[in-house]
Amino acid sequence: ERIVLLGAPVEEGSGRRGCLMGPDAYRTAGIVDELQALGFEVEDRGNATPHAAPDAVSDHGHLKALRAVAGWTRSLHACALELAQGPAFPIYLGGDHSLSLGTVAGHAEAAQAQGRPLFVLWLDAHADFNTFETSQSGNLHGTPLAFVCGQPGFDTLLGRPIPARVDPRNVCILGLRSVDPEERVMVREAGVEAHDMRAIDERGISALLKPFLARVSAAGGLLHVSLDVDFIEPGIAPAVGTTVPGGTTFREAHLVMEMLHDSQLVTSLDLVELNPFLDNRGKTARLMVDLTASLFGRQVLDRPTRSF
Ligand code: ARG
Ligand code: MN
Ligand code: MN
Ligand code: MN
Repeated sequence: ERIVLLGAPVEEGSGRRGCLMGPDAYRTAGIVDELQALGFEVEDRGNATPHAAPDAVSDHGHLKALRAVAGWTRSLHACALELAQGPAFPIYLGGDHSLSLGTVAGHAEAAQAQGRPLFVLWLDAHADFNTFETSQSGNLHGTPLAFVCGQPGFDTLLGRPIPARVDPRNVCILGLRSVDPEERVMVREAGVEAHDMRAIDERGISALLKPFLARVSAAGGLLHVSLDVDFIEPGIAPAVGTTVPGGTTFREAHLVMEMLHDSQLVTSLDLVELNPFLDNRGKTARLMVDLTASLFGRQVLDRPTRSF
């Protein structure tokens, strides 16, 4: 089995500097060696580069770095569309969460061409469901789920309407603890399956994830996972610009990855929002690499697969 790594050093969507260094921090933390140790053939394709998008404009003047983010979206959409058709499993090394504007749009288009539904698991403190209209911060990393679910107003990003949208009912968000008022309404009205930290506390993370994986399996779907560093409690994953206290524990985060491995359903992965400038000697980068290893089958004792 093969894995392709593609760096996406985009930081313009986050409103601060540093995510540019994310892909190299994962490499330094040993992501290639860890995946090879699990038996995978790993190809590191280096870093993607953005297209030029001089035509990307909006009357929402508060949006930050719209042209730069549009350029990344076009580039990563094309990369993902190509990688989705190959035999290898793509891992996108971010970069801030605006990179998912491109990666998820590319995987959605490829899934549509294959006649299979794309499901998305969004592991994040935030819903990232703002539109250009509703974004208060102007940071485009707060918008990718709204874009890929086909919310209106985003056509300038690709310079045309999104070629294939993700059905919002095929999206599951886990880890929520910071949702803007208008986002909250849109997430509910769109029919996204969304679970906040209270749901995780009360019901347990595996009880929330299992039915979603069963839905993906029953539908014969492809599954894209987007892992935001801020899904995890900031005390153990400090290297992120948007820390929110009360995140998932080390064990909850690993359990999600282990269950995803057992399901054999995941077909692509984003690792996003790592800001190595804020890290503590690579602690967060190493945690993200370890979580990735759990998703690719690292475990303590042998178990049968498909245990969900
Ligand atoms: N909802 C806030 C905003 O739109 C925060 C978004 C944070 N997103 C992220 N990918 N860290 O600005
Ligand atoms: Mn506006
Ligand atoms: Mn995010
Ligand atoms: Mn987040």
